[in-house]
Amino acid sequence: MKFFVDTADTSEIAELAATGLLDGVTTNPTLISKSGKDFIAVTREICALVDGPVSAEVVALDHRQMMREADVLRAIAPNVCIKVPLTVDGLKTCKALSDDGTMVNVTLCFSANQALLAAKAGASFISPFIGRHDDNGFDGMDLIRDIRLIYDNYAFETEILAASIRHPVHVLEAARIGADVGTMPAKVIWSLFNHVLTDKGIEGFLKDWATTGQTIVEAIEEAAGEKPAG
Ligand code: E4P
Repeated sequence: MKFFVDTADTSEIAELAATGLLDGVTTNPTLISKSGKDFIAVTREICALVDGPVSAEVVALDHRQMMREADVLRAIAPNVCIKVPLTVDGLKTCKALSDDGTMVNVTLCFSANQALLAAKAGASFISPFIGRHDDNGFDGMDLIRDIRLIYDNYAFETEILAASIRHPVHVLEAARIGADVGTMPAKVIWSLFNHVLTDKGIEGFLKDWATTGQTIVEAIEEAAGEKPAG
């Protein structure tokens, strides 16, 4: 499963990119507005921090204007992925851009039929919104499951990008179903590293190691004659 971070905060992105485990970034107009920065400048900064796709969203509602906005956005960097809403005009734009070899992420997907349309329009990614689905009394995971089944039935190459992930259990369930990508806030990615038994295990091992009075690096340096025996 690829991990994308859902933010336009460049320090959060840089910190995660340093782990070597970050595969891409998703932004949206709300996240750009939270960054307080110029959208072109911040998108350019983000694209330089990661090699993978960086979703940048159009805000126009009609196809012609979406295409004009997409032209501006895709000129920012080669790893920009144009994000369009799941509407008739959004999918027309998706088809035109995909035919042209541009990566497209179709966002605001709330039904499996919408996801089927996005795949037919050649989307690189479909973004079903799990958390917002749950918020409204539907099971977001049923949506991911249905899309997985449909895409596998027809061998669609569109990647399922589980979006609106709010907590680690969403990540676990989406991974079990086989979502190709998960996009989530930085704090959710960081929380995946943690387990109380890992912390406890390290504490125990270090306590026992200290009783040996040995070192690893210094012992090797001494053996190689790089450091006098102490
Ligand atoms: C995805 O691309 C969206 O930006 C995002 O996942 C929305 O998440 P939210 O529902 O927590 O705002």
